[in-house]
Amino acid sequence: MLSSETLFARPCEFIMGGASIEGLPPAAYPEIAFSGRSNVGKSSLINALTGRKTLVKASNTPGRTRELNFFLLAELLMLVDLPGYGYAQAPGKDVAQWTRLVKAYLTGRPNLQRVCLLIDSRHGLKEVDHGIMALLDKAAVSYQLVLTKTDKIKPAELAQVLKACQDSLKKHPAAHPSIVATSSETKDGIKELRAELAQFIN
Ligand code: GTP
Ligand code: MG
Repeated sequence: MLSSETLFARPCEFIMGGASIEGLPPAAYPEIAFSGRSNVGKSSLINALTGRKTLVKASNTPGRTRELNFFLLAELLMLVDLPGYGYAQAPGKDVAQWTRLVKAYLTGRPNLQRVCLLIDSRHGLKEVDHGIMALLDKAAVSYQLVLTKTDKIKPAELAQVLKACQDSLKKHPAAHPSIVATSSETKDGIKELRAELAQFIN
């Protein structure tokens, strides 16, 4: 059995960006999607997990990732970087289009094994996050909360936000009970998340 560290050290290749539900790669591999508000750190987390600095473009401009970007790890596991939601500055018609695409993907992808729902540890769960969680509960898609940017807060604050998230999870049947706290900067929690995701390879 391949260890999770070996798995994530293997080559990871960009497959394609999909801007419509018809234009996605075939559902041929177990898939993990990374979702969350704009700027929460989705692209940075995929880079940290795969140990690459520039596999995925991270940026200071929220709403940068506009397509569903597919990365195939070790020809075993597909990682999908989703466009962020809740970006207030984006034009209304763009928001509507991304929202439709992301919702269609999240609720209709047969090989989707787990959604990592990223939450900025400085901000905790927001209204839009609750909306996505409700959608995933309804579609019975398994998901897990992943706190990001833990290097930006103190341990006591992290403990507080973890507790608040844990309490909220009780109301969400499709949510995985454990929450992983990560920093793409210091790599805290990255090994733990690799181990969690490696269980989905066949
Ligand atoms: P969109 O694609 O726009 O939705 O953003 P995203 O969720 O992919 O976020 P991205 O990875 O582009 O990161 C946004 C900003 O946060 C960048 O400036 C990153 O450098 C920064 N960032 C991401 N993760 C961390 C982290 O763990 N710690 C710190 N300090 N900064 C981070
Ligand atoms: Mg991004």
